[in-house]
Amino acid sequence: MIQNYHILYGILGTMQKRTLYIVGLIILIGIICYFTLYQKEINDTSEYLAITPVAVHTNGMDFIDSSTCIECHPRIVEDHYKTAHFNSLQLANKKTIKGSFEKSKNTLKLNNKVTFNFIEKDSGFYQEPTFNNQKTPFYSAKMDIVVGSGTKGQSYLMWNNNDLFQLQASYFTPTDSWINSPGAPDELAPARPVLERCLECHTTYAQNISGNKNKNQFHRENLVYGIDCQRCHGPVKKHLVYHKQNPKDTIAKYILKYNSLSRQQRLDACALCHSGLRTETTERAFSFTVGDTLKKFSFPDYNESSLKDLDVHGNQYGLLKASKCFTSSNSLNCTTCHNPHKKERGNISSFNQKCMDCHTTMSKPINCSGDKDKIKEMDNNCIQCHMPLVKSKTMKIHLLESEEISVDVRTHLIGIYNLKNN
Ligand code: HEC
Ligand code: HEC
Ligand code: HEC
Ligand code: HEC
Ligand code: HEC
Ligand code: HEC
Ligand code: HEC
Repeated sequence: MIQNYHILYGILGTMQKRTLYIVGLIILIGIICYFTLYQKEINDTSEYLAITPVAVHTNGMDFIDSSTCIECHPRIVEDHYKTAHFNSLQLANKKTIKGSFEKSKNTLKLNNKVTFNFIEKDSGFYQEPTFNNQKTPFYSAKMDIVVGSGTKGQSYLMWNNNDLFQLQASYFTPTDSWINSPGAPDELAPARPVLERCLECHTTYAQNISGNKNKNQFHRENLVYGIDCQRCHGPVKKHLVYHKQNPKDTIAKYILKYNSLSRQQRLDACALCHSGLRTETTERAFSFTVGDTLKKFSFPDYNESSLKDLDVHGNQYGLLKASKCFTSSNSLNCTTCHNPHKKERGNISSFNQKCMDCHTTMSKPINCSGDKDKIKEMDNNCIQCHMPLVKSKTMKIHLLESEEISVDVRTHLIGIYNLKNN
């Protein structure tokens, strides 16, 4: 070190005072630059490391938890936590299971011999069927995962090692009671394997272990619960890192832009899960990302041109597409009426405003010659008459003591209905 100093002085000694001054200045600037850059690099790595993915897609995409977005998108995240999407797949606990464990409400009579009991233990929540009221249950199945926000109902899933099954008893919101799962027989049935496609519609990501889509084994630690930001927005890591480093930049970078998508691409982003059952092509579940063409991944299981084949439950896309509002406009899509970040159920006035946004700007005045007084009385409730509640053909249950009960779903076939019977 000392020797180096001697060499340095030696060189300096041979220089002019003025040159010395300039060289000194350059070195000083160099030192400042070095330290600021070095310092920034340290910050970058620490910020980068702080972003720990909750899961990783087989295509390499990291899944970052939505809590990471709060810093810059607080309102959206707060609203998002209340949506049916976010709550569509959750870990089972006292708060998330809507079915009751209270004495008078914790049983389900499946038939004259079999009764399900719903039991809360220290280790969790269980479904236990018994024969002829015998003490020992036929089996005791733990509810590990809840499917469904509970708007209409919930189903419960169980892990057996890495195998995922749907349990026989579900919950039905209209009757606030435990029920036999829709489609299950009136006798004890084996738990149904849960395939990838079920999770594809109800959650952000799950990784199938074998790669065979008819198998029900999943990596339990590589699962993202609920429909989170990235299900609709794709990769976010670069976006996060960039904006953390450049807090003054208010223009979104490194993130998919919805306003650059075509109408069909926007529709496909929702139709992935809102166009009823679909048959997959050779592409795998969870391989579709927003911006892709859905047709390449799956096609409808029903005759798209026959309205009779469409059920109001889960096929908003097929019904909307058949509506005159859709065919006569070149912009109408799901987000014309829906804010995907908000729980909007019941906010009728906001939906009516969406109808008016279009219909008051059209040259033809609205002429609901129906019943003027009734229209007024209903506070111009457009959807009550033109998007009425319709009974689902598929989402119905059969209760022991009573007849069939179907859930009412808002039809997306916007049109003129004869509602005299209602
Ligand atoms: C450090 C700040 C920051 C963080 C953290 C952040 N963003 Fe952003 N994001 C921005 C800014 C700035 C914009 C541009 C202004 C706006 O649209 O709010 C933006 C815009 C967006 C957009 C709109 C893109 C478009 O169409 O223009 C999406 C989608 C988005 N962010 C998603 C996310 C998600 C998901 C997360 C969490 C995983 C996240 N962001 C975390 C700063 C951030
Ligand atoms: C990954 C599949 C998936 C995608 C993509 C998806 N949804 Fe959904 N959506 C669901 C499921 C599942 C439910 C039912 C959730 C529940 O209640 O458990 C639902 C529920 C809804 C509801 C009812 C909300 C409520 O309060 O009950 C609306 C409205 C909706 N989705 C609109 C959209 C729109 C608009 C898009 C596109 C921007 C979209 N969804 C994309 C799966 C999806
Ligand atoms: C069900 C799909 C869906 C989910 C889940 C979702 N978004 Fe969005 N997001 C959209 C769509 C569709 C748009 C475009 C809306 C439009 O153009 O009207 C959008 C727009 C945005 C925008 C830009 C416009 C705005 O409203 O500021 C931001 C920022 C954003 N999303 C952030 C998020 C964050 C953060 C999350 C998670 C907390 C999230 N989104 C979850 C579908 C979704
Ligand atoms: C094609 C996508 C898709 C598949 C596959 C799918 N669902 Fe759904 N599911 C939906 C949509 C969309 C809704 C809500 C919208 C509606 O009722 O129209 C829903 C609603 C539900 C509800 C009621 C949620 C509530 O809060 O009202 C339950 C429970 C449910 N599904 C369970 C399941 C189970 C269990 C599986 C797999 C065995 C499954 N679903 C497969 C799309 C799907
Ligand atoms: C994007 C603009 C747009 C929106 C939003 C919209 N409509 Fe329309 N709607 C149209 C167009 C265009 C037509 C066709 C008008 C024509 O042919 O004269 C139409 C037709 C109709 C018809 C006649 C249907 C038939 O079968 O004859 C009804 C009823 C209707 N709309 C009600 C509604 C209601 C209720 C809402 C809100 C839930 C709504 N519309 C939202 C654009 C829109
Ligand atoms: C013209 C306006 C309009 C358009 C476009 C529209 N919706 Fe809706 N949607 C509504 C209204 C109104 C409701 C009823 C809300 C309520 O009951 O509070 C609704 C309800 C829903 C529900 C809940 C159904 C139920 O009864 O449980 C789902 C799911 C949904 N929409 C999905 C979609 C999807 C996916 C698209 C695009 C394919 C779409 N919507 C397009 C107006 C619209
Ligand atoms: C009480 C039920 C009712 C309500 C509420 C209602 N309509 Fe109508 N509407 C009707 C009936 C019935 C017709 C068919 C009239 C006919 O053809 O004689 C109609 C026809 C229409 C048409 C097609 C006829 C035309 O003039 O092109 C449109 C568009 C329409 N309504 C829009 C709306 C909008 C937007 C709202 C909300 C502001 C609304 N309606 C509220 C019952 C209703």
